[in-house]
Amino acid sequence: MKIAPSILSADFGRLNDEIKAICDGGCDYVHVDVMDGHFVPNHTIGPVVVGAVAKVATKPLDIHLMVQNNTFFVDLFAPFKPEFISFHIEEEKHPHRLIQKIRGLGIKPAIVLNPHTPPESIEFLLEDLDMVLLMSVNPGFGGQKFISSVIEKAKRLKAMIEKKGLNTLIEVDGGVNDKNVKELENAGVDIVVAGNYVFSNPSYKKAISSLK
Ligand code: DX5
Ligand code: ZN
Repeated sequence: MKIAPSILSADFGRLNDEIKAICDGGCDYVHVDVMDGHFVPNHTIGPVVVGAVAKVATKPLDIHLMVQNNTFFVDLFAPFKPEFISFHIEEEKHPHRLIQKIRGLGIKPAIVLNPHTPPESIEFLLEDLDMVLLMSVNPGFGGQKFISSVIEKAKRLKAMIEKKGLNTLIEVDGGVNDKNVKELENAGVDIVVAGNYVFSNPSYKKAISSLK
């Protein structure tokens, strides 16, 4: 299981040290939650801070857009060469075109599904995606309770991916901890995002290895 700690739960007064600590602590990606206060009722960080994170991170960035006007934000963050940029299908009229744009920038495109959105909604996009991010909380905040219907959704998505002979990754985001990570792995999930579970642990290294 690959681990992508969400920096939303980090101490922003010591962000440099926090990024170094999760990278040295064995994480696989740095999950960056971008929220614009429109798509979700919260507002987080923009290119100034993400640029600072990109400078100090020694692991690839996994940028999760929770915004209106996805294309505008893709252009803002592409210069930092993240590994993934994911956008919400619920907020995109032309997802296939945006996937092509992200890939054209040399970045792996991913689509995010909110808890209510069925995996069938992106069936005809699967072959163009490197990853599908399944939300296991309602987007906007860290530290929320895990929505367990994501397990069934991950199993259905995995079956769709296998049926098409693809190797699209599945990432689950929200309320992940050492209690539910095994069930996620058994459901075919490849990457888990964990914010509160990692950053509330005295040892980030122990928290990350407990999820692996
Ligand atoms: C929520 C974010 C998640 C969140 C995960 O909108 O997309 O990445 O920060 O944090 P935890 O693991 O605390 O639920
Ligand atoms: Zn996220």
